[in-house]
Amino acid sequence: MKQKHLIDLEYMTKDQLEKTIKLAGVIKEKPEIYKHACDGKIMATLFYEPSTRTQMSFQTAMMRLGGKTIGFDDPMNSSVAKGENLKDTITVVSGYADIIAMRHPVEGSAKAASHYSNVPVINCGDGGHYHPTQTLTDVVTLSYEKGRLDNLKIGLCGDLLNGRTVHSLIKTMSRYEGNSFVLISTKELSVPQYIKDVMDKAGCPYTEVDNLKDAISDLDVLYMTRIQRERFASEEDYQKQKGVFVLDKDKLSLAKEDMIILHPLPRVDEIAIEVDDDPRACYFKQAVYGMYGRMALIVLLLRQEDSFLFDTPDIDTDKNLKCHNEKCITNVEMEYYLPKFTYEKDGHVFCEYCDHIIE
Ligand code: CP
Repeated sequence: MKQKHLIDLEYMTKDQLEKTIKLAGVIKEKPEIYKHACDGKIMATLFYEPSTRTQMSFQTAMMRLGGKTIGFDDPMNSSVAKGENLKDTITVVSGYADIIAMRHPVEGSAKAASHYSNVPVINCGDGGHYHPTQTLTDVVTLSYEKGRLDNLKIGLCGDLLNGRTVHSLIKTMSRYEGNSFVLISTKELSVPQYIKDVMDKAGCPYTEVDNLKDAISDLDVLYMTRIQRERFASEEDYQKQKGVFVLDKDKLSLAKEDMIILHPLPRVDEIAIEVDDDPRACYFKQAVYGMYGRMALIVLLLRQEDSFLFDTPDIDTDKNLKCHNEKCITNVEMEYYLPKFTYEKDGHVFCEYCDHIIE
C-alpha cells in the first residue's frame, strides 16, 4: 500500500531518504532558491505534548519556505479541552491546512490520524513509538558531519529501552553496509529484543556494555540520550538510573579526534556543560540540520510525486482482533470507532497502529 503520510522512516526507501538528505544540503547552502517553494501553503502543527525543537523547527522550516503555519502547542488551548476527539480535529484541520505535523502521547495516533486526513500527516512523535523526523535529523547530520552513512561504529548510551530515537536510528543505520553498534546502558534500560532482532536480521554486529569510559575509544559516533523520567513507573525507579552515564571532558579525552557526539536533546545531566565547546560536540548543530531536513521533507511531500509515496504493509481488518498494548490508540480514545487494522509479517499478526504483535 502506498501512502503520502510519514509515520516512520522505515517506510522511506533509501532513495527517498538520500534524496531528502541531498535536498537538505542544497537548501542549507542556497536557501534563496527555496524561499518561495511553499508560497500560499499552510502547515498545521498540532502538538498534544511539549516540544521545543520539533515544533519550532517545523514552523521555522515552513516560514523559510514562504509558507505559513497554524496550530497549537497546548491542546488545552484548542477544542480538545472541550472533549473533541482526534478524528474530528484532524478531519477539520486537514480542510484548513496543506500539511499536518503532529505530536501526540498515544502510540499509533499518527497512523490513526492519517486515516482521517486528506493532506500529508508527519509523525512528530507518538508516545514511545516512532519519531521519524528526529532520525531524519540524525542521518542528515551524520551525512554532512561524517561524510557517510556506512562503515560507522556507533555507540548509543543512556535510556536505550525507552528512547524512540535510539530504536529508529538503529533501524535506519542497520540498512547501510558495514555499520556496527555499541549499546551502552544499564541492564534495566537495555535495547528491547525486537531492535536486537533488527540488527541480527541485517547482519550488523553489536555489543552490549555498561561502561562508557571503556567503550568510547573506538567509536566514530557517540549518540547520548537522556533517561526518560516520564516513562518510569515510579520516581524511585528513575532515581536509580539517573546520572549513571555522564559524558565529561575526562571521558572525552579517550575518544578519537574525529568522533562526533550527537544527542536528540533535550539534555538533562548526561553531557557535562564543559563538553559543549569541544569541536566534537555536534548536538546543537544537529538541531539546525533538523530544520534543513524538515524543509526538504516539506518540499518533497507537498510536490506529491509518485516517487515520494511511502510503501507500507498491506492491511486486513478483523473486528475481533484486539491489540494487547494498553498504550495503543485502539485501546485509548479511538477504541469505539477506529477500524481494527492489522498486517502480517514474519509469521505474526501486528497492530497496524502501534506495531505490537497481536498473535
Ligand atoms: N529532539 C526532540 O524531539 O526535541 P523536542 O522534544 O524539543 O521536540
